[in-house]
Amino acid sequence: VTPTEIEVRLAPPYRVRVGPGALAGLAEAAAPFARCAVLTDATVESLHGAALGELRGAPRLALDPGEASKDLNGLGSVLDFLAEAGLERGSLLITFGGGVVSDLGGLAASLYMRGIAVVHCPTTLLAQVDAALGGKTAVNLRAGKNLAGTFHQPRAVLADTSLLATLSDDEFRSGLGEVVKSALLGAQDLFALLEREHARVRSRDAQVLEQVVAACVRLKAEVVAGDERDEGSRRALNLGHTFAHAIERVAGYGRVPHGVAVAVGLMLALRSAELLDRLEDTGLTARVESLLGRLGLPRSLGALRAASGCALAAEELIAAMQHDKKNRGGSPLFVLPRSLGRTALDVAVPPAILIAAVRCQTP
Ligand SMILES: NC(=O)c1ccc[n+]([C@@H]2O[C@H](COP(=O)([O-])OP(=O)(O)OC[C@H]3O[C@@H](n4cnc5c(N)ncnc54)[C@H](O)[C@@H]3O)[C@@H](O)[C@H]2O)c1
Repeated sequence: VTPTEIEVRLAPPYRVRVGPGALAGLAEAAAPFARCAVLTDATVESLHGAALGELRGAPRLALDPGEASKDLNGLGSVLDFLAEAGLERGSLLITFGGGVVSDLGGLAASLYMRGIAVVHCPTTLLAQVDAALGGKTAVNLRAGKNLAGTFHQPRAVLADTSLLATLSDDEFRSGLGEVVKSALLGAQDLFALLEREHARVRSRDAQVLEQVVAACVRLKAEVVAGDERDEGSRRALNLGHTFAHAIERVAGYGRVPHGVAVAVGLMLALRSAELLDRLEDTGLTARVESLLGRLGLPRSLGALRAASGCALAAEELIAAMQHDKKNRGGSPLFVLPRSLGRTALDVAVPPAILIAAVRCQTP
């Protein structure tokens, strides 16, 4: 089966391969480089190390799985590893793992010898539809998530959807939250596909997953090509995220998976748009709510409270939104949906509306 190929039209352009078996293209992607090294995590290495094929013999660093590796200490270890592996300016770093591995590896690749090439091989749904695309790299600081990073586009991205079979249900669901965001942003025909094929999506049918991931990749590729540095239209990708970051922060990082928080953030963005009378497609909220339910995601803040056991008090969520790094001049700005495929950027939502949106959620 030939994987789907999508071009990200930046200078230079690069290809994203999506589908079962996409990793078979790794040797070809690495061929122009005299030396390469692999950054992965211990879980991915033990489950899928063999899928690296001939690149298995390359120097390899396996991180401890999880967000805790994505800090300045982790960055130091990766940079030392690249030097000890003898990588030079013309060498390649291959990342093989979830968003933690691509964020940390991308940052290390952008810094080592002032920048070497990186190819991402994302292994989680979240990384295949989002984190490994678009060139944003980061580590967390004590003060907050993703506060230190660079833009460093990969040379290629190989999203092998067959690797998603081993993801835990929680990790898979988390990726689906970002998938629904892409569908709302207008990934072509994705919303209808998810509504029609929700059962096959949940059972991780390889053919449907290839279509789903490819639709998300096409959307992100288009958005990033229009605004590489996040100075304008790329901000649409933050739909639901100001709410989601507040939920993650108030729950305590790690308690609510990111994409699950995004799913609830989408509902809160829809409610806010309704309350502000800015939602043109008035049936959209009910459609999204129903789709989230069918995909096994919480349909409301109330449902998330019940499922997670976190109180997520309205006042704490509102306070946390004041800290969001997308703030300008102290008040949070939101991306709000208008209809399927259309959003309003930089909307200042008054606190009274936020409180109403957060309160009118029932499980
Ligand atoms: N750069 C960006 O544009 C961007 C966008 C979104 C998210 N992110 C970042 O991505 C990170 C989250 O990514 P994530 O959810 O992939 O987290 P992750 O990398 O921590 O992976 C989640 C877990 O899944 C395991 N795993 C990975 N692949 C697996 C597989 N195929 N089978 C079984 N288990 C597997 C990992 O070992 C880990 O325990 C966050 O740090 C976030 O900030 C970055």
